[in-house]
Amino acid sequence: MNGETIPHQNGAAVAASVVSPPARDGGSAGDRNAGWPTVLMVGESPAMLEVFDQIRRFAACDVPVLITGESGTGKELVARAIHHHSGRAAGPFIALNCAAVPATLIASELFGYEKGAFTGATARKHGHVEHAQGGTLFLDEIGDMPFDLQGLLLRFLQEGEILRVGGRRPIKIDARVVAATNVRLREAITAGKLREDLYYRLNVLTIRLPPLRERDGDIEILATCFLREIASEQGRQVHGFSPAAMDLLLNYGWPGNVRELIATIRRAVVLADRPLIGVADLRLEPEQTGPTERPRPVPVRRRPNGTNLEPASHTERGAVVSALEANRFNMTRTARALGVSRATLYRMLHRNQIELDQQFLVRDSLPAAPEA
Ligand SMILES: Nc1ncnc2c1ncn2[C@@H]1O[C@H](COP(=O)(O)OP(=O)(O)OP(=O)(O)O)[C@@H](O)[C@H]1O
Ligand SMILES: [Mg+2]
Repeated sequence: MNGETIPHQNGAAVAASVVSPPARDGGSAGDRNAGWPTVLMVGESPAMLEVFDQIRRFAACDVPVLITGESGTGKELVARAIHHHSGRAAGPFIALNCAAVPATLIASELFGYEKGAFTGATARKHGHVEHAQGGTLFLDEIGDMPFDLQGLLLRFLQEGEILRVGGRRPIKIDARVVAATNVRLREAITAGKLREDLYYRLNVLTIRLPPLRERDGDIEILATCFLREIASEQGRQVHGFSPAAMDLLLNYGWPGNVRELIATIRRAVVLADRPLIGVADLRLEPEQTGPTERPRPVPVRRRPNGTNLEPASHTERGAVVSALEANRFNMTRTARALGVSRATLYRMLHRNQIELDQQFLVRDSLPAAPEA
């Protein structure tokens, strides 16, 4: 990202960015820098190298960035990295989780209030937007921002000024907005929950963070880095994974992404009674793989003869479908039958546009074949 690399113990280069947020004066509920003394972003998969490249390029332009990705993929980390690499790095980074603030409070949290604006407003208070003056305002879970407030945010994005609650004088604010979401904003617009004009204002540049299962080769280096850090933090002599444990890490679906990987390793370091973490220490029960085996409930179309999709062929798609059916849609057995890891199997499903519904039936996203 910033051209800085740290060596990985297997000799692989790890793209990294050390982010040390500047200390802020004045307290604010939105200032979560305290928990982020140093942030290291790790990854060397093509998908993450692309993300690092986008962070570097986007940091240089002072326009809004929208970060999308499943929960735990590192959206906040990316927002911090953008701030750190931008010309605003010396300014504050203010994070506000739009889903965590009660709808009734969010206007005063965001824009502040004047003395006497409402009962209990005994003194003027600055909001998060004002605290972000000269820096970056990170709006997390933007899809959950109350609809009424979206107009006020839009005004700030368009005019660069705000009104405190109960205030009459607009205040100029110079802050860059970075927003994040793990919901599909287009669907939120269709459902009438998100203003389309706000969406276009926020979505000038977009970074899509891939789920961990799509990051080729990253699980091992992330696991190794986290193990080193957590073991040293806890003063435990645990310095690696057994081959079977590493195999499990590589083949698990990680529905909670990087955050789940960190929690798994943290738990394993406590449980391990040997220098190498074993399968049992990971506590990744087979049923925990369930959510990733059921990616999205989607409509199912079946052929009249009861088989799904086209007959097996020499194509990859045909081979995957046959293996799935032969193995009753059990991901681990199907992957084994195909001689690939579960992560690779998920990639094969994705690139062949094969989707499974909750009953593990294959859905063909290609045009329907004429039925007899
Ligand atoms: N590439 C990475 N390298 C190192 N640590 C990472 C990486 N990605 C994420 N993390 C760590 O994983 C945890 C989750 O990241 P973060 O909070 O940024 O995710 P998120 O996408 O904002 O999640 P949510 O949607 O649940 O808010 C954090 O502890 C973060 O430091
Ligand atoms: Mg987050």
